Amino acid sequence: MFSKIFFCLSLIGICKVSAAACNGNDALCSRKYSNITQIGAHDSAFVGDLPTENQNLDVTGQLNAGIRFLTAQTHSFLDEIYLCHTSCFEENSGVLVDYLTDIGTWMDSNPNEVVTLLLTNGDAIAVSMFADAYDGAGISKYTYTPPNQLALGDWPTLQDLISANTRLITFMGSLFVSRARSIALGLTKMIDYNSNTATVSYILEPSGSNGAGLMYIVNHFLDIDVLSTGILVPDKGSAPATNAATGTGSIGAHAGLCAQQHGANPNAVLLDFVDIGDAMTAQNNLNGL
Ligand SMILES: *[C@@H]1O[C@H](CO)[C@@H](O)[C@H](O)[C@H]1NC(C)=O
Repeated sequence: MFSKIFFCLSLIGICKVSAAACNGNDALCSRKYSNITQIGAHDSAFVGDLPTENQNLDVTGQLNAGIRFLTAQTHSFLDEIYLCHTSCFEENSGVLVDYLTDIGTWMDSNPNEVVTLLLTNGDAIAVSMFADAYDGAGISKYTYTPPNQLALGDWPTLQDLISANTRLITFMGSLFVSRARSIALGLTKMIDYNSNTATVSYILEPSGSNGAGLMYIVNHFLDIDVLSTGILVPDKGSAPATNAATGTGSIGAHAGLCAQQHGANPNAVLLDFVDIGDAMTAQNNLNGL
């Protein structure tokens, strides 16, 4: 009886949809992690209606919306790792372990999804403290640890990561050249494009690297200067155009410019307000899907 149902569903194509796709698409299973473009949520932990906040959806909502690349700023506060903007008195989204717990809960019920975290560590908090937060959130079991500093072609495919259940990749902003404990630090270069000018605003890379053949990330969000005070806040009003798949100033336009300069599409394009615009269409376009 079961096989009959399976057969019927196959005929109308349902089985294909419900089959174990990788990050939502069968075609991505055989692609190396280093050869996919992911739309990312910039400052994914700063959620709410205040002008300083970057996202409308909380991290679980971002994951449910298809976002698999999440960035967060970490700071040392009260002897713990907190998610704060510049200072914990300015914007404080609570402790890292709670945020990681939400991600882990989502990953538990979504076994075919590879999730990436880019954590900035401006306070140079010891990596062992991050490992404690990962342990506390129960997500250490999912972390991928590269065997060494990986060249572009050496990254596993999404299917490799899913099969091994090492589906959580962590990059750390200021420590990415070293590997420590269970936190995977595999990104060897981060080119941070300034969205406002579409020029490279800074490049972080291991000393001695010539930057060839490494993954790169693009910031694609606009800020506005509040009443010309020099205080920059996310430009929510322009997000529909900024986060569109195509058109002037869109994700597609910016990524295309970067691809011309770098010979490959960006590995991540970071957005504010991932629920505004058409992030998933842009991502599919960049992955040739
Ligand atoms: C993946 O490979 C294709 C074919 O070489 C290339 O066009 C594309 O830019 C690559 N994407 C990334 C993110 O490297």
